[in-house]
Amino acid sequence: ENMIKDEDIEMLHSVVSFRGVPMAKMNVENWEPVEYFQARHDDVVLATYPKAGTTWVSEILDMIYNGGDLEKCQRDTIYNRVPYMEIRIPGMPSGVDQLELLASPRLIKTHLPIQLMPESFWEKKCKVIYVARNAKDVAVSYFFFHQMVKALPDPGPWDKFLADYMNGTVSYGSWYDHVKGWWEKRKQYGILYLFYEDLKEDPKREIKKILHYLEKELSDEVLEKIVHHTSFQVMSKNDMANYKTIPNDILNQTNTAFMRKGEAGDWKNHFTVAQNEAFDNQYQEQMLGTSLHFRTAI
Ligand code: PPS
Repeated sequence: ENMIKDEDIEMLHSVVSFRGVPMAKMNVENWEPVEYFQARHDDVVLATYPKAGTTWVSEILDMIYNGGDLEKCQRDTIYNRVPYMEIRIPGMPSGVDQLELLASPRLIKTHLPIQLMPESFWEKKCKVIYVARNAKDVAVSYFFFHQMVKALPDPGPWDKFLADYMNGTVSYGSWYDHVKGWWEKRKQYGILYLFYEDLKEDPKREIKKILHYLEKELSDEVLEKIVHHTSFQVMSKNDMANYKTIPNDILNQTNTAFMRKGEAGDWKNHFTVAQNEAFDNQYQEQMLGTSLHFRTAI
């Protein structure tokens, strides 16, 4: 299914082809703990292609699980409250290590394409929420993220990064394969499939969808509190959610921030007319025949 040649990916610093998917080398060098990850029946998985709104929905989920208690949601950073399953930074506890020590019910973040997901989640019939975001906004956000993250290859200029992204050689591979792969299995596995743009448009409506899916109920007052607390403005000032606690040599936020803009349609400020045309052509080809539709106006 994936057309990327191993030699092409090997050329990218620290991204390697793993079962046909370009992945950060450090995360895949010892895959067994992920492959044989032991899910628990009440685990909730949040799956995304990078930069699709993972941190936002993580905060929403932790707020829901704590009944809107702000203090409880200040107990730790977002990456410790909702650990990133497949991460493996040398010298630090891996995502799997962190998760094994976490009390149930666990909230689990992953960027894995669906075919690399540990089987255990399906066997245990865990709740799984997928969030997708407009391909062009993801490209822009991912570009800035590459400038911040030590463990990712230097993205070079925007034009080069966009070409890599369109070729599907960036970490986690093709955006198309990712969003389509999860979409195709949503019914089989009972996955809740959400969109970043819908959350922007009406967060309350989308949070209600999440509550319904999780079979949880919250008062309107608590719901409003969650909407407010998880807005971009509030979250970017919240040090337990904005990644400012990560040292600069791992995530360099001097020139740009993890909480960068948080908008839908920022790609318009970065794509040239020619880039946009080329992208639209590829998009049409790649999305042909799928019932997965993103809003084209964005
Ligand atoms: S990661 O590294 O993959 O986990 O990143 P992820 O959290 O998925 O994506 C980061 C982008 O999401 C934006 N963001 C938000 N948007 C709206 N509202 C809220 N509350 C919010 N929190 C984070 C963040 O700013 C990144 O997008 P860009 O476009 O770069 O601003």
